[in-house]
Amino acid sequence: MPQILPSILSADFARLGEEIASVERGGARMLHVDVMDGHFVPNLTLGPPVVESIRKVTKSVLDVHLMITDPDKYAPLFVEAGADQVSVHYEAATHLDRTLRTIQSLGAKAGVVLNPATPVSLLDDILDVADYVLIMSVNPGFGGQKFIPNALKKIRRLSQVRRERGLPFRIEIDGGVNHDNVEAIVQAGCDWLVAGSSVFHSADSATAVRDLQRIADGALAVKV
Ligand code: DX5
Ligand code: ZN
Repeated sequence: MPQILPSILSADFARLGEEIASVERGGARMLHVDVMDGHFVPNLTLGPPVVESIRKVTKSVLDVHLMITDPDKYAPLFVEAGADQVSVHYEAATHLDRTLRTIQSLGAKAGVVLNPATPVSLLDDILDVADYVLIMSVNPGFGGQKFIPNALKKIRRLSQVRRERGLPFRIEIDGGVNHDNVEAIVQAGCDWLVAGSSVFHSADSATAVRDLQRIADGALAVKV
């Protein structure tokens, strides 16, 4: 079943606990946490202490997306802080196989992220190691950007490779996800849909999650 993952980047950080409780009332069971270092992307967000605080107020799966130049150094700290899964950018990881295996050895799921300009074919030799692949549908760094439709092609391709090779990895999308494109994204083969501004910048975030989830579930019903 597809899942909507609210991205807390668009939440009100002064009221983070309440913001999380609200999306969980709407049915969210996975939360997306964006980590930016001001080098890999032109923005700064949060570090392990914040993840540790979030861990204390939720049982939801914490999906940590590292947009940083040195994932080897910091990924273990996020697992220790309570992340259930950690993804690193293909463009930032020099020894991707080792990085993913290190994350897994610490007890978390390991994902690899592709920027919009990075082709899916580059993952051929790592797909049997990764627990999930995150396709960026915006250039990373900021919430509220416009969806890049080519991401759908990449998801279809990945989904096809997954079928052909009988691999278990999950497919995630991040950036510009909203009511208008959820159906197409799920039908392309995506499992996890990250949504920031379309959830937290709506009138009621619980309702927004519920609505997006309903569209996602319906899309799958149409497909089968
Ligand atoms: C962007 C982040 C996203 C961001 C998505 O670099 O990785 O997770 O929160 O926000 P929206 O859904 O507003 O595009
Ligand atoms: Zn993200």
